[in-house]
Amino acid sequence: MNSSLGRDEKLRKVCELLARNVDYYDWVGFYLVDEAKGNELVLGPFVGEPTEHVRIPFGRGVCGRAAVELKTIIVQDVTRETNYLACSPLVKSEIVVPIFKQGKFVGELDIDSHELAPFTDEDRKFLEKVASLVAGIL
Ligand code: SME
Repeated sequence: MNSSLGRDEKLRKVCELLARNVDYYDWVGFYLVDEAKGNELVLGPFVGEPTEHVRIPFGRGVCGRAAVELKTIIVQDVTRETNYLACSPLVKSEIVVPIFKQGKFVGELDIDSHELAPFTDEDRKFLEKVASLVAGIL
């Protein structure tokens, strides 16, 4: 990727690439760990509808849960998830993939879908690979 681009531009390009190529990836974005606070996620570059969830404390919602559990979380039907922060009524499912840089949790790749239960183990493996590559940008 063009190294003259800044970090956020690169992250945005990753979002665009994913959203453009997978039809059920409807909102694609990054949440990054707020280094100063240490226990909060801050919205980074994304593509899709704007979200009110610009800051998410660890533990809250699917994103906050992934920050505590430090593993990929797939919610195939958001109406069945009690710890969920709704962004858009169109969203039916979500996958959140933690990003580790040299073993340290630094952020997440978050994807919302307008389809019910679209995420497979292939998505998980693919997005975990993307997350490991993205760690090199962070
Ligand atoms: N649904 C997420 C909040 C972020 S939005 O999907 C963009 C959650 O429950 O953490």
